[in-house]
Amino acid sequence: MITVFGSTNLDQIGTVPRLPKPGETVAGGTFSMAAGGKGANQALAARRAGADVRHVSAVGEDAFAPLALDLLEKGGVDLSHLRKADTATGIAMIFVDAEGENVIAILPGANGTVSAADAERGLSDLKAGDVVLVQQEVPQAASRRALEIARQKGATSLFNTAPFLDDTPELAALADIVVANETEFALLSGRPIEELDAAMSEWVERTGTTIVVTLGPEGARARTPDGAIAVPAYKVTPVDTVGAGDTFCGYLGAALEAGHDLETALRRAAVAGSLACLKSGAQPAIPMKADVDAIAGA
Ligand code: RIB
Ligand code: NA
Repeated sequence: MITVFGSTNLDQIGTVPRLPKPGETVAGGTFSMAAGGKGANQALAARRAGADVRHVSAVGEDAFAPLALDLLEKGGVDLSHLRKADTATGIAMIFVDAEGENVIAILPGANGTVSAADAERGLSDLKAGDVVLVQQEVPQAASRRALEIARQKGATSLFNTAPFLDDTPELAALADIVVANETEFALLSGRPIEELDAAMSEWVERTGTTIVVTLGPEGARARTPDGAIAVPAYKVTPVDTVGAGDTFCGYLGAALEAGHDLETALRRAAVAGSLACLKSGAQPAIPMKADVDAIAGA
């Protein structure tokens, strides 16, 4: 069983010819809405990868909540620990330009009400061997509690450092596997991207845990106490990279829970993350298991 502890958003997506600068107006684009939120995206990715998934999260009492939950429900993600908060559903305002570059602003709404008590309720029955995925779009006290409970119960925790916040290094120290992109890892390690390999070794020496760094079109690298792994990305021409990191995390968690070794799990995650760049939006773009199997092998 995979338990995802984190956010649920409804993404408001504008595709624009180019990203507006502060104070500037750019016209001529298209608008769409799609289910998103790093927690919900990772839950759906793990589910599409074939895992049993529970999503511990909160949405508002508004018209956006059903739209935010639609693909999770259709996909068969367990939402019995989802709480309705007396506020708005989380919203992400996203602009994507013609090259696929994006800017995102998050309005947390119900995600901001997710608490340590939600972690206690939602994770109380974790078992050894379960996998828990945590990101950072809910308050850090809540994420911290989720990571602590995972450790107490002997579950494997996978902590995604997106979006990077002040307390991220402290939370990362509580996880079994940290997944960061290059920028986040530079912030986490305090070392420039040029020193990636040395910084990754240093992380493992200091924490005794596993660090995974995603490198976009260059794939991903990992370092564990047993050594280093590098896997390629699957080459695509990206339409929109929103949700690619979440797809990577969800597929990684699902493959590890299914018993794959880390290298195989990373390979599958990297292919899934690449495929997620082929469609607009986060959840609509998450590939199905069969599509990943066709490239990465079953
Ligand atoms: O990681 C992608 C997600 O980040 C989007 O779905 C959006 O909701 C933002 O939270
Ligand atoms: Na996408």
